[in-house]
Amino acid sequence: MSDRNPGDLHCGMPRCDIWMRAIAMPADTNPHGQIFGGWLMSQMDLAGGTCANRRAKGTVSTVAVDSMTFHQPVFVGDQLTCYCDILKVGRTSIGVRVEAWVRRFNSDEVVKVTEGVYTYVAIDENRRPRPVPSE
Ligand SMILES: CC(C)(COP(=O)(O)OP(=O)(O)OC[C@H]1O[C@@H](n2cnc3c(N)ncnc32)[C@H](O)[C@@H]1OP(=O)(O)O)[C@@H](O)C(=O)NCCC(=O)NCCS
Repeated sequence: MSDRNPGDLHCGMPRCDIWMRAIAMPADTNPHGQIFGGWLMSQMDLAGGTCANRRAKGTVSTVAVDSMTFHQPVFVGDQLTCYCDILKVGRTSIGVRVEAWVRRFNSDEVVKVTEGVYTYVAIDENRRPRPVPSE
């Protein structure tokens, strides 16, 4: 999707494109009433994977989450936006930095909630690594 909108959320990344938006729902909460960290990681993985898929011009598989930080809790109704930036392109792998921000429910407050670095591998029809094509 990558629909950067200058009037939209801000992220401090050098090139930040929006790759995912989602609303946190009651089913995504943990027993403490805040949004489960696994849900956030999966949204970030979907965003990073979509970004890597575009760069790889085909299917990618997540091989590693190299770092992950949870800065602020997320609550039901918050609007999550994931921004992605390609950090590195190897022979078959693509490193993507993902930042997630939320617009708080019923509020204009916008905060960075998580960030991480995800690595994807371009795979062929046999699910084996294939070279990332040139841009
Ligand atoms: C992804 C997969 C096909 C890679 O196969 P592999 O035989 O391990 O691949 P290789 O050892 O040749 O490594 C491929 C690339 O990944 C990189 N890589 C492998 N393990 C890595 C790790 N732990 N962290 C970062 N990069 C890694 C390698 O450096 C290499 O990059 P390069 O070609 O750019 O130099 C295989 O590991 C796999 O199928 N894993 C399961 C994937 C999965 O189920 N993900 C969750 C759902 S999407």
